[in-house]
Amino acid sequence: MRIFVLRARSAPTDSRRFLTSVGGEAHVEILAQTLTNTLLLSKDHYRDVVVYLVLEATADYARTIRFDSNRLQDLGGFHEGAMLATIADALALSGELGKEEEIDAAAGISVRTISFEHLLKQLAEQYPLYVLHRKGADIRRVQFSENPCFVLTDHIPMPKKTFHTLKRLGAENISVGPRMLFASQCVVLIHNELDRRMA
Ligand SMILES: C[S@@+](CC[C@H](N)C(=O)[O-])C[C@H]1O[C@@H](n2cnc3c(N)ncnc32)[C@H](O)[C@@H]1O
Repeated sequence: MRIFVLRARSAPTDSRRFLTSVGGEAHVEILAQTLTNTLLLSKDHYRDVVVYLVLEATADYARTIRFDSNRLQDLGGFHEGAMLATIADALALSGELGKEEEIDAAAGISVRTISFEHLLKQLAEQYPLYVLHRKGADIRRVQFSENPCFVLTDHIPMPKKTFHTLKRLGAENISVGPRMLFASQCVVLIHNELDRRMA
């Protein structure tokens, strides 16, 4: 299994605000592009992939949307608008959730009001964590443990404090190359590296 966590610090949890933020400073399109590249292949999709999008611009609780590639059904296409609508629909259903509650939004899609830090603590109990960092260990030299969980951010840097917390959880920093890429580009390179090792 491959697990991906994208922390989106400026992405609104309100579904309408989420959609009107497309192309604006929140850059919510990053979520759609990352989702496409973690889940989909040409005329196919990845099996055994779980993606968590953590949206943090909220009036109450962060929303963590979980996508399970094995259970997903039609996402309405692979264009950015379809992915944005899928995310917005899931957010709309999560409006009334209290703290750390969860709701199924569609087949293979659920939303939980859990913070990034709590989510990562829970994931660290089951999976080895790899944090994407341009100055981390070269992905080509990393020996991955089974079921790796990759952690990325949107355009807003992860606070230093978070790196310390993740280190305490046993996370390793890994780099996919010398240039600063979009999260959506990083996930392609991660998949490709693991695919090549399996080939
Ligand atoms: C656009 S970047 C974030 C840029 C942000 N200004 C920063 O300094 O972290 C989005 C995500 O991709 C990761 N990333 C970008 N280029 C990378 C690289 N060459 N190797 C590893 N991770 C990378 C970042 O660590 C981050 O998680």
